[in-house]
Amino acid sequence: MRNDFLPFARPDISEEAISDVVDSLRSGWITTGPKAIRFERSFGEYVGSPWALAVNSATAGLHLALLAFGIGPGDEVITTPMTFAATVNTIVWVGAKPVLADIDPVTLNIDPFLIEKAVTPKTRAIIPVHFAGRPCNMDAIEAIARKYGLVIIEDAAHALGAAFRGRRIGAPLGERHAAVFSFHPTKNITTGEGGMVCTANEDAAEKISILRQHGMSKGAWNRYAARGNPHYDILFPGLKYNMLDIQAAMGSDQMKHLEAFNARRREIVDLYRHELGSLSTLTLPPAVDPKDTHSWHIFTPLVETDRLGMSRDEFMAKMRENNIGTALHYQAIHLFSYFANNYGWRMGDFPNAELVSDRIVSLPLFPAMNDDDTADVIGSVREICG
Ligand SMILES: Cc1ncc(COP(=O)(O)O)c(C=O)c1O
Repeated sequence: MRNDFLPFARPDISEEAISDVVDSLRSGWITTGPKAIRFERSFGEYVGSPWALAVNSATAGLHLALLAFGIGPGDEVITTPMTFAATVNTIVWVGAKPVLADIDPVTLNIDPFLIEKAVTPKTRAIIPVHFAGRPCNMDAIEAIARKYGLVIIEDAAHALGAAFRGRRIGAPLGERHAAVFSFHPTKNITTGEGGMVCTANEDAAEKISILRQHGMSKGAWNRYAARGNPHYDILFPGLKYNMLDIQAAMGSDQMKHLEAFNARRREIVDLYRHELGSLSTLTLPPAVDPKDTHSWHIFTPLVETDRLGMSRDEFMAKMRENNIGTALHYQAIHLFSYFANNYGWRMGDFPNAELVSDRIVSLPLFPAMNDDDTADVIGSVREICG
């Protein structure tokens, strides 16, 4: 057994990033400023988006994207039950009604056929989540959005570096589109906490940029800097969702390492696949379609609990006894008390998500994992599941 605990995820922060954060701390300018702008530019160039707007979380980004497209009371927004609560919470916060469409049990992504079945005259938007970094079938989702005049807001929290049919997630999908990324410490890159909204819609970009800083016509950088002007107007009742320069300093450096980070994630996934593929008590995530790119934010096998004679939670406890951390992405959204109580969702409503929710587990996966760490995970899983 390992002597030290292996967490399921751990950020990898370079000395250059630390120096640049210290540079901001020493410079006297630590809130949103030139480093946030630099990070936005490099991010926009990487995903191929004309606008990339840095915010302090993906949750903030989803909230702003919904507001920017005018989604609110009386509207319905379709999303997946296999996601983090933030996706659905933000729909609730703009006053719209969340509507769920079940997942495909193989890809664990929202099933486009079920999206179309859920469309009503009140539907205004679809929020597909690229689960684990596997791109959703965006051709099918775009076709539905076009047919019914819907906005697409990609929840790309897991999907930095992923691509569908050669289109990098975050690149434009027309005027009624935004994509939102997360930089939480477990994600493919991190800024501590943080997020980015990408869109090609200039009006939406302008609105997001204003709404993220109280609805002010000018940011602090344009008011307090040497050539700034102190006057401003309030154009909308905004929020406080801006990203600090100390976060952006980290983000710019992380972007330089992204391709190497994702390559290492793929290597570890290949090892898992090779070494665990023959276990009949574990169903591994399927290989990605060769036309697409998976960003492997998480590696999420399903524990075949009947065959193993053990619950998923017992499996996680045994991994913990072997000093190996695991995580749970996700408990099906519709069964949480708030949602069940307010939307009448019950057990049986989304059977694929329920089946997955009871069996899914995230194994350790992060670029700084070395081959010994990977071998420890494989050894522990084999010991429990073999
Ligand atoms: C699918 C999904 N959406 C949204 C979020 C929210 O991201 P953040 O923590 O940056 O607000 C997360 C975070 O884990 C997520 O996994």
